[in-house]
Amino acid sequence: MRSLPDFPWDSLAPYKARASSHAGGLIDLSIGTPVDPTPQVVQDALRAAADAPGYPQTYGTPDLREAVATWFAARRGVEGLDPDGVLPTIGSKELVAWLPTLLGLGAGDIVAFPRAAYPTYDVGARLAGATPVPVDSLTALGPLTRSTTPKLLWLNSPSNPTGKVLGIEHLAKVVDWARRHGVIVASDECYAELDWRPREPAAHGEPPTTPSILDPRVTGGSHEGLLCVYSLSKQSNLAGYRAAFAAGDPVLIRELLEVRKHAGMMMPWPVQRAMIAALADETHVVEQKARYAARRATLLAGVAAYGLRVDDSEAGLYLWASADEDCWITIGRLADLGVLAAPGAFYGAAGARHVRIALTATDAHIAEAAARLSA
Ligand SMILES: Cc1ncc(COP(=O)(O)O)c(C=O)c1O
Repeated sequence: MRSLPDFPWDSLAPYKARASSHAGGLIDLSIGTPVDPTPQVVQDALRAAADAPGYPQTYGTPDLREAVATWFAARRGVEGLDPDGVLPTIGSKELVAWLPTLLGLGAGDIVAFPRAAYPTYDVGARLAGATPVPVDSLTALGPLTRSTTPKLLWLNSPSNPTGKVLGIEHLAKVVDWARRHGVIVASDECYAELDWRPREPAAHGEPPTTPSILDPRVTGGSHEGLLCVYSLSKQSNLAGYRAAFAAGDPVLIRELLEVRKHAGMMMPWPVQRAMIAALADETHVVEQKARYAARRATLLAGVAAYGLRVDDSEAGLYLWASADEDCWITIGRLADLGVLAAPGAFYGAAGARHVRIALTATDAHIAEAAARLSA
C-alpha cells in the first residue's frame, strides 16, 4: 500500500467552524480558488464548441499547440517554441501528481522539490513509488552519486505558498547543473502573470511576466530536459474548466503523450477551444491582475496593521505572513476575527511559522477582512 499523506485540509475544519461563528460571518482566505467571472470571450468559445460527438486529440489540435507557442512569445519572452513540444493537460494538478509516473520513475528514484511547496509534488513522487526529497538548494542534496541524484527536480516560480520569484541567473544555474547531472527540470509557473514586482522603465522589451524556465537567457536556446508547466486557472478564472499545458522538450512531451494516449488523459474538446480563446486575449488577464493588485494592497495594509510580517510574496495570489509563532496559533487568532487562512505547515516543515492568506475573495470580503485586522 503506497503512503499518501493525510489530506491536510481536514485538520482546518475546527478553525473554519470557529471563524464561521464570528458575528460578521466567515471570510475564507484559505484556498486560492478564483471568484471572479470567467471572461466572456472564453465562455463564448466554450459554448461554440459544445457540439463534440467525437473523441478529442490527446495531443491537442495543431492550432492549440500553435496558440501556446504564440503565447510564449508574446507573454514569456520565449520565441520559436516548437509546437511539437506542447501538450494540453486537464488542469496542472493532475500533471504535477502524475509526471513522475508518466516519466516512468519508480522505486529508488528521487523527485526533489522546494521545502515550502505545493503538496502535490510530494504526492506525485509517492504515487510513482519514488522518493520525495524536499530541498532548498542544490547543495542540500549533498555529494551526488547515482543513488542520490534526483531524476526529476521541481521548481515553482512564483512559489505557492511563499510568492518568491526565481530570477534568470538562478534559473540558468539550475539548468546548467541539471544538464551536467542528467536531471529533468519541471518548472511550475502558474502564477507567472501575477508578478507584483515594480518594473523599471529600462525593462521595456522584457516579458511582462515572471521569467520562464524556457527563456533563452536560461536555456541557451535548447529546451532539452526542460518542461514548463502552466495553468489558466488563475490568470483567466478557469479553474472549473481544467485548462493547462506542459511545454518544452519535444522528446519528453512525446514520452508523456504516449502514456497519456493509452490512459485516456485528454483535454475535452470544448476546453481546448476555450483555451485557444483565453490564450489569444491579453485584455482579461490585465484586468484580472488589476483586481488582484487592489485586493493585495488592501490586505497588505490590514495584515501590517494586525502586526504580521509579510515575507517574499513578490508574486502570486497569497501573502506569506508570520507572527514568529507556531502557525496554528496565528490561524486560531485569525479565526477569532472570522478570517480563515491556511497554516504554513500544510506546505512542509519549512512553513511551520507562517500562514498563507489568499487574495482570491471578492472586493467586499477583502475590505471586510482588512477592516477586522485593522480594528
Ligand atoms: C503551484 C501550483 N501548481 C499547480 C496548481 C494547480 O492548478 P490547476 O490544477 O488548477 O491548474 C496550483 C493550484 O493552486 C498551484 O498553486
